[in-house]
Amino acid sequence: MSPTAQDQGRPEIRKGLNGVVADVSAISKVNPETNSLLYRGYPVPQLAATQPFESVAHLLWTGELPDEQELAALQDRFRAHRALDPTVKAALDALPTTCHPMDSVRTAISTLGALDPDAEDSSPVTELAKAERLTAQLPAVIAYEQRRRRAGGPTEPIPAREDLDHSRNFLWMTFGQEPAPEVVDAFRISLILYAEHSFNASTFTARVITSTLSDLHSAVTGAIGALKGSLHGGANEAVMHTFDEIGIRPGESAAEAKERARVWMEEALAQKRKVMGFGHRVYKNGDSRVPTMKQAMDAMIAHTGREEILGLYDGLEQAMDEAKSIKPNLDYPAGPVYHLMGFDTELFTPLFIAARVTGWTAHVMEQRASNALIRPLSHYDGADERAVPGA
Ligand code: COA
Repeated sequence: MSPTAQDQGRPEIRKGLNGVVADVSAISKVNPETNSLLYRGYPVPQLAATQPFESVAHLLWTGELPDEQELAALQDRFRAHRALDPTVKAALDALPTTCHPMDSVRTAISTLGALDPDAEDSSPVTELAKAERLTAQLPAVIAYEQRRRRAGGPTEPIPAREDLDHSRNFLWMTFGQEPAPEVVDAFRISLILYAEHSFNASTFTARVITSTLSDLHSAVTGAIGALKGSLHGGANEAVMHTFDEIGIRPGESAAEAKERARVWMEEALAQKRKVMGFGHRVYKNGDSRVPTMKQAMDAMIAHTGREEILGLYDGLEQAMDEAKSIKPNLDYPAGPVYHLMGFDTELFTPLFIAARVTGWTAHVMEQRASNALIRPLSHYDGADERAVPGA
């Protein structure tokens, strides 16, 4: 909010659109007072406790959870699009393995849009089919990008498995191993928690692009650009960089790691550093998604025995709380969870895409159903009118 703007006789300007209600939406409800989040009316912790990711995708897109038959049909449609498209593979292979995987995934989505025969058809049925396809195609892209980076260049993708659900197959295509149930569960939960969060920066980007009557793949490509920034999705990756800076010492006790983390945080705050994974534009008393993700993290710690990660986590959280009362956001537990699963840190934000693509595309469809071009005004405060020299 910008009271200074009014002081100077300007219209009120809300920097960052802070506090501005830009439209109505029936997709999710973020309630900062009660620290709660609903998808289409359902509490998200309950969805995370009981539902496969595919059901939550269906819910976001259609407004209702699927019955058994609808879920089976959706899972079949997902399976049909799990393989890595050869043109997408060639596009990824043309990129250096040193580029950020967000750039690779953005390129892959753009390529999929160019290949999609229905790219320009935005009728509701086709739009929903495209949203499903894109969600089904993303794991192959992200899994391949992880493998390509580890191989140092083009490699063979791991073929999809027909017998696995979305979350299991995603992990299978990345690591080529049957994941343990604890790992699958933590991964599924992370996808559900990351799936949707009202008018955040990337979702709003997708809606702005859709409002020009552009296509769904363009909206998602633009949203990926917005998500990449460290004030948004890039924070899950940045959390791990903080852990790395403090030093991850496998085998260290939780208590020792916690103490080192506390000291680090005190120094960071004394230097007025912004510590990623803390704070939120909407939630000021804690992010509704953190307790569920933290539980999944605890299960991963128990599964892997990596107590030092828990120590670092607790140490930073407590020191931040004591110093500034700023609470962790979802990226804070999600980063360490993905690390414990074996993903490279740079792949964390692409994993966020694999989930948020469902929310983005639900918003694309909602925006299209009741569209108005999103085009705000600016208040000019540049140079007064003046003559061009010699004119
Ligand atoms: N580390 C240290 N201080 C923080 C902080 C953090 N992560 N987040 C907020 N603060 C402090 C700010 O420095 C500011 O202090 P000041 O009033 O003394 O200047 C105050 O809290 C308000 O922060 P502000 O950035 O104005 O709040 P915002 O609503 O505009 O920003 C975020 C919200 C998310 C951009 C901000 O909390 C942030 O940058 N967090 C780190 C990035 C992150 O984790 N993003 C993922 C979001 S899901």
